[in-house]
Order: sequence, then structure tokens, then C-alpha cells
Amino acid sequence: MFGKDLISIHDLTCDQVAAILDTAIKVKANPEDYEHFLSGCTMAMIFEKPSLRTRVSFETGMTQLGGHAIYLGPNDISLGKRESVPDIARTLDRMVDIIMARTFAHQSVLTLAQYAEVPVINGLSDYSHPCQVLADFQTISEKKGELKGLTLAYVGDGNNMAHSLMFIGAKTGVNVRIVCPKGYEPRADVLALAVEDAKETGAAITVTNELNEGVSGAGVVYTDVWASMGMEAEAEARKAIFRPFQVNAALMAKAKEDAIFMHCLPAHRGDEVTDEVIESWQSVVFDEAENRLHAQKAVILRLMVAEGELD
Ligand code: CP
Ligand code: NVA
Repeated sequence: MFGKDLISIHDLTCDQVAAILDTAIKVKANPEDYEHFLSGCTMAMIFEKPSLRTRVSFETGMTQLGGHAIYLGPNDISLGKRESVPDIARTLDRMVDIIMARTFAHQSVLTLAQYAEVPVINGLSDYSHPCQVLADFQTISEKKGELKGLTLAYVGDGNNMAHSLMFIGAKTGVNVRIVCPKGYEPRADVLALAVEDAKETGAAITVTNELNEGVSGAGVVYTDVWASMGMEAEAEARKAIFRPFQVNAALMAKAKEDAIFMHCLPAHRGDEVTDEVIESWQSVVFDEAENRLHAQKAVILRLMVAEGELD
């Protein structure tokens, strides 16, 4: 059983990550076995930013588990403006069984978790996106079999996705190379934590500005938008800086012949990835999107149901 919340993959043990992925595979294969686990339960879903996948997968996931989800958008509760985060946490805590939050500041998710006794799930913050990488690693294991020993090259901005990929690689034995322009590296403290975590699995977690070195021999090539939500003002300036890091056919050719292409979506075609690559046989982007549903149902079950009842 893991802690009360899912805030960052770094907080989980290697066994806990493996257990979530194992449950996700079972939930996907036999969804009917889990239909009544959350009967009568309600999830509050707080969104400070837009969403397609996160909103729909959590809401659908709660329905499929026998529960219900309430969407609270930016104009509904105005996190920290209409009401303080601790007050929102303590109010929701009296009414719902679980909270999912997509916030700008990571601190808001931490504060919700601190003040609410019910579980809190991080649905993306400026620091990390743990649910996405659980779905991604479920997808990789479906496509490649064994995770341990694989190499994933993440090409682009050292952002929330890069952080979470480094953490989950470290916990599962997947080598993760962050390949980014100078000045856009992931946070040094995250790299240090991930490298420390990786001692248990032997994964190599590295950062480079060299495309050839970063992508050559990779079995998975991953990218994300060059300007994350909230950075729209920088988007134009970033285009010129990131252009050499576009995932196109020439870049894919540097990876293994059977490499898969991944993207958390939404994608900006023509920027970080070409149409040709995202539509190619190598692309698994919609499998990743689908697996959000299964992986998050697994997270909810692991947070809310006693271990003996699941295994
Ligand atoms: N990948 C992802 O989190 O998608 P949304 O922003 O649409 O939720
Ligand atoms: N890095 C992106 C991920 C979107 C799912 C963002 O934060 O906007």
C-alpha cells in the first residue's frame, strides 16, 4: 500500500510503481472485475488549466469504477483567489472521497494534500505529471515487453514531463536521456533525485545537449510541446531555439530501427513533431492516451482499496 496521495513518482518505491503498472494491465484486460469498487464515491477534479485527456480519463474512470466525478474548472473555484487552497482542501475533504488537481504551482497540489485527509492525485503541475508517465510506461511495456534495460530519449524542454520521465525511468530500470537545448535542462535537483533513485535499478538518467549522442540507439523517442501551458508568451521565441530538436524522420532514423514514438499530447504538429512521424507506424500516441484511463483507475484503486481486496 502506498501513502495517502500520488504527488510524484519519486515518492513511490520501485515495487509500488510496478504494482500500479500491474494493476493497470489487469484493469485494462478485465474492467468488469473492478466495476463496483468505488460505488458511492465522488472525486473532485480541480483544473486551473485546460485538459482533454486528464479530465475525460478521470471522469470516465470514476464512472467505470462505480463512482462519480465533479469537474471544477478555473472559473468555478478560482484556486487561491476566491478562496485559499487550505480552505478549499478542508471543504472538499468533508464532502468527497478523493481529489485530483491540475495546477500551475506544484505547491498548490502539496497544500491540498497537506490539508485534505482524503487522497490527492497530481493531475499535472509545473513540476511533474505522474499519471501521464504511468500510462506511458504501461504503453512501453505493452509494446516492448520488459522495461528494464530499455533506453528512452526525451527530446525537448526540460519540463514537468521530463521530470516525471526521469523519475519513472529511475524506478523501473529504463535509461532516460533528456536531450534539450542549452538553458532548457530539467531542474538540477530533480536530476540529482532521479540519479539517486536509479541506484536501486541501475538505470542511467542523463542530460545532454547533443542530439546524436542522446538519440542514438534509443528504443523510445519521446517529445512534448516546446512551451507548456502558462508559458504561451515565450512560445514564439522558443520556436527558433527548439527547431533543431524537432522529432522528424531524420531524427527518428538515429534511434533504433524498431523505436516507438511517444508524445503526451496535445501535439503541435510542425513544431516539436512532424505529421509524418506522429502518423507513422512507430507512433503510439493514442495508446498512451487510452492508457491514461487504465493507469489512473489503477492509481485510484491502489489509493482507495485495501491491498488484499485488489490482488
Ligand atoms: N496529456 C495530457 O495531460 O493531456 P490533457 O492536457 O488534455 O489533459
Ligand atoms: N508540458 C505540457 C504537458 C501537457 C500535458 C504542459 O505542461 O503544458
